[in-house]
Amino acid sequence: MTNDITRRQWLTGTTTTVATSLLLSATSASAQTFMSANVTPSAQNPIRAHFNENTYGQSLKARKAIDDAADRSHLYAFGAMFEFRATIAKLENINPKYIGIGAGSTEFLEKAAVFSRIDGGSMMVTYPTYGDIIRFGETLGSKIIQVPVGEDMSINLDAMREAYTDDVNLIYLCNPNNPIPTIIEKNALREFCLEMSEKATILIDEAYYEYVDNENFASMIELVKENKNIIVTRTASKIHAFAGVRVGVCFAHPDIIKRMFGMFTNSTNYAAMRGAIASYQDFEYQDFLRQKNKESLQICYDMFEELNLPYIKSNANFTFFKAGRPSKEVAAVMKKHHILSGREFKPFTNWVRLSMTKPEEMRYIMQVYRKEFG
Ligand SMILES: Cc1ncc(COP(=O)(O)O)c(C=O)c1O
Repeated sequence: MTNDITRRQWLTGTTTTVATSLLLSATSASAQTFMSANVTPSAQNPIRAHFNENTYGQSLKARKAIDDAADRSHLYAFGAMFEFRATIAKLENINPKYIGIGAGSTEFLEKAAVFSRIDGGSMMVTYPTYGDIIRFGETLGSKIIQVPVGEDMSINLDAMREAYTDDVNLIYLCNPNNPIPTIIEKNALREFCLEMSEKATILIDEAYYEYVDNENFASMIELVKENKNIIVTRTASKIHAFAGVRVGVCFAHPDIIKRMFGMFTNSTNYAAMRGAIASYQDFEYQDFLRQKNKESLQICYDMFEELNLPYIKSNANFTFFKAGRPSKEVAAVMKKHHILSGREFKPFTNWVRLSMTKPEEMRYIMQVYRKEFG
């Protein structure tokens, strides 16, 4: 049956029925997806360019593992969780004792905020950045110091050094940042982490790590091996397309891991673990997604250049551009065309965050944008 469809059709999912029916039998599938491009969006089925999701869906290997997991999902997931942890340990060359597994990375951000509050400290973050830890800290009544990004719109480490006060016990750095997809230069970040971890816990959120293709970027996992005060978080919600399945990975000294999870977490589930074990080892599918992400970004950049719109070169699966009009207005107009774009991010109220979807969909979005605002 596969001979009846071309590889391109398969990749773009234009043969949805065939693709779906092949889903469960395609054990050797890798750079393949069952999700078709949505170029006729409707109110019920809009193009989702607002949440930085992966609109291709999971790797077929992960899908099969998730489906097969139903047979054993009446049992606790500890064994599968340990297996996933061992998979990550091998991939990242780190002792499993330094790894915590959770139901998405939000779990770690919220726990870090709780410990910061319990220990009676304040939190320092960039402004703007991913808002979950801030909202959670506010709910707990924590004092939060927000340090604006620099003129180049990237995280300003020197300003953070200056803003530091003795009561700060948690510093949150999102790298790449969100909503502005910049990175922190690796040597400057390493230096900052070594210096400031003497005074506070540094949490580096690497949610978009798998998309980065920039020689100035480095993960801070290496530091975790020697430093007791650094936490690195990752998520399966982005390139692995597990946003609704919920898997997150966190790296930290075993003392921090123990404090966060006790002996081990029970927030994960069996299907998620089996799917993640398959997904993290499907390198071909990840390469395919990175390639598609680049294509989609280029489609946006071409239009930004054509319309003379300033934009940030992305290190993630979303772009940030200056629409020159309120992002709220852009979102409202795009919504009429059943396209969901990013919300307003203060203080950049005239900038729009647009999540990458499939290239076919990005072309459609750009067409609509040109028509409305070009
Ligand atoms: C920077 C960042 N960190 C964490 C998250 C939350 O991810 P998860 O689904 O792993 O809880 C997101 C989600 O968009 C994000 O952008």
